[in-house]
Amino acid sequence: MIAAAQIASPIDVARIRQQFPILSRMVKGKPLVYLDNAATSQKPQVVIDALVDYYTGYNANIHRGIHTLAEEATAAFESTRDTAQRFINAALREEIIFTRGTTEGINLVAYTWGRQNVQAGDEIIISAMEHHSNIVPWQILCEEKGANLKVIPINDDGELLMEEYERLLSNKTKLVSVVHVSNSLGTINPVKQIIDLAHQAGAVVMIDGAQSTVHMNIDVQALDCDFFACSAHKLYGPTGVGVLYGKKHILEAMPVFMGGGEMIKEVTFAKTTYNDLPYKYEAGTPNIADVIAFKAAIDFINEIGKANIAQHEQDVLQYATAQLEQIHGLHIVGKAVEKASVLSFTVDKVHPQDLGILLDNRGIAVRTGHHCTQPLMDRFCIPGTTRASFAVYSTREEVDALVAGLQKAIQLLL
Ligand SMILES: Cc1ncc(COP(=O)(O)O)c(C=O)c1O
Repeated sequence: MIAAAQIASPIDVARIRQQFPILSRMVKGKPLVYLDNAATSQKPQVVIDALVDYYTGYNANIHRGIHTLAEEATAAFESTRDTAQRFINAALREEIIFTRGTTEGINLVAYTWGRQNVQAGDEIIISAMEHHSNIVPWQILCEEKGANLKVIPINDDGELLMEEYERLLSNKTKLVSVVHVSNSLGTINPVKQIIDLAHQAGAVVMIDGAQSTVHMNIDVQALDCDFFACSAHKLYGPTGVGVLYGKKHILEAMPVFMGGGEMIKEVTFAKTTYNDLPYKYEAGTPNIADVIAFKAAIDFINEIGKANIAQHEQDVLQYATAQLEQIHGLHIVGKAVEKASVLSFTVDKVHPQDLGILLDNRGIAVRTGHHCTQPLMDRFCIPGTTRASFAVYSTREEVDALVAGLQKAIQLLL
């Protein structure tokens, strides 16, 4: 086998792995090899502790209480907002809206900004590599309004055709919504260029940061995006929490989303007035425990440093790419020059699901199928791929286990 030259790892992976209790479990009698990080990452002990601390120490509803527990819970909850603001470099804390995740963030924008600003004949541009959560909300909106959805095509390596994008932009374009890093291909899209071109055409831009936020520095001010959505569970944090960033003046002008407690100032049967940002978009009791634990996840990432994490993941990605390319009949899907640590592939005459089952028998967790990107699979004329995705705790030894597992599985299946 040909090994990619090892880049000296800037992090102590063994020490990091010790912080993830699940990584020491066995699956089917074998040590777990967890390579499904693009679906969700595992959680370090600090995140688990933050959840337990809240429920054992200061469980209370937030914002409205005057007792000690409510004050402590409110302070912890709001402190995550400050941490998230710094994490993506938003200018203001009220630009950080807690959601259930990326899907809810995109839907929030589609149901509020979209319904207010998109009319019949208008156009919304997405790309050929979008996750269903950045396709369906815009389809629903377009159907309702008589607007048109336009799609930026990609080349065979899985890169956006930027000249085609420029051709699609016009004074009909109201919104451009694109994924920062593709969950199926790993492609890192040139979002700064996409945003600047959209703004020149007078369009608003939403970035789906579900996959990018864990791998690269996010600076929403430098990007100048109008909206940015991400999910905590892909960032070593808990499920059921996400952040929607929006520029303050845009969020302020938008109509409300869900109605209920917290999002109001005054309610009478005659009329309701709405709360200021960010609470205007946070109706009802939020996911308090998980928002609090999200701060522990961000602190965990910051302590290691995104640049160090990215360098380590790139080493594992390059090693894995070199190893997998040696397997006869295996084809990597997604060969962009700019790529994050996602490795999708097909194997001649082998169904991805069969591979997934046989790998699981060896304790290796990969994802198989269309990865919620069915139109992208159609573009490559395949039903799905097998996907290995790497995180800060992934190792070259795990890649070796994957390669051995694949070779054995292919032998059995052919
Ligand atoms: C690129 C991309 N966008 C959106 C989502 C949706 O994220 P969530 O399910 O956390 O809302 C995902 C999840 O896999 C994703 O990978």
